[in-house]
Amino acid sequence: MNSQAPVITVDGPSGVGKGTLCQWLALRLGWHLLDSGALYRLTALAALRRNLALQDETHVALVAAALDIEFIPDPDNLVRIRLDGTEIGDALRSETTGNAASQVAALPAVRTALLERQRNFRQAPGLIADGRDMGTVVFPDADLKLFLTASAGKRADRRYKQLIEKGVDANLDILAKEIAERDERDAQRAVAPLKPAADAEVLDTTLLGIAGVRAWTRALISQRLKIRVIP
Ligand code: C5P
Repeated sequence: MNSQAPVITVDGPSGVGKGTLCQWLALRLGWHLLDSGALYRLTALAALRRNLALQDETHVALVAAALDIEFIPDPDNLVRIRLDGTEIGDALRSETTGNAASQVAALPAVRTALLERQRNFRQAPGLIADGRDMGTVVFPDADLKLFLTASAGKRADRRYKQLIEKGVDANLDILAKEIAERDERDAQRAVAPLKPAADAEVLDTTLLGIAGVRAWTRALISQRLKIRVIP
């Protein structure tokens, strides 16, 4: 029996809909939300602002260890984030920042620097953890592990629509190429590569809408945690 607060992990590649699902789950359950990708994005942004090379493992890890961050769930936005007390806007979600994040995320010292910080999000009444290695490395004893997949084309398409909706300039071909590169780097890296935990529930969302993904998640939460999530 786990004496710690319950955790549901949601892992998968970029553009698969994890953020939308996690935001909804955290609001429905009234649980905390860990957007671990944002930690890597903030690390990359903070490193670039300090003119560090993204391969400078020692210094980027120091930046990661010293980040002052706060996550605020918001029904209108995916999530609001403060860095050093100041709210960060769209720069955090840009593809440029996503690619930079994927570079610093490949550095073992950076991952180590962020590990405890991520585990500290596990507080009552519970945590929804969104990322790549939530079920494999950060919360190996999670109460429920979900892993979402979707074809690369579908993910590029979804990310394109998200960006255009937000008024961010985007090119579908460039986006598809960048997503493929990021997937490759995330899946091939030596530390905490993107892969489902052995005990994860895997769902291919290529042909599923948001309602289908939510229904699958609700059924698993009801089965495994005996909690009824309102649709
Ligand atoms: O999920 P998001 O697109 O915000 O993540 C940005 C990058 O951060 C990913 O491409 C990945 O390289 C890295 N990341 C990671 N481990 C996590 C979450 C994100 O390596 N748990």
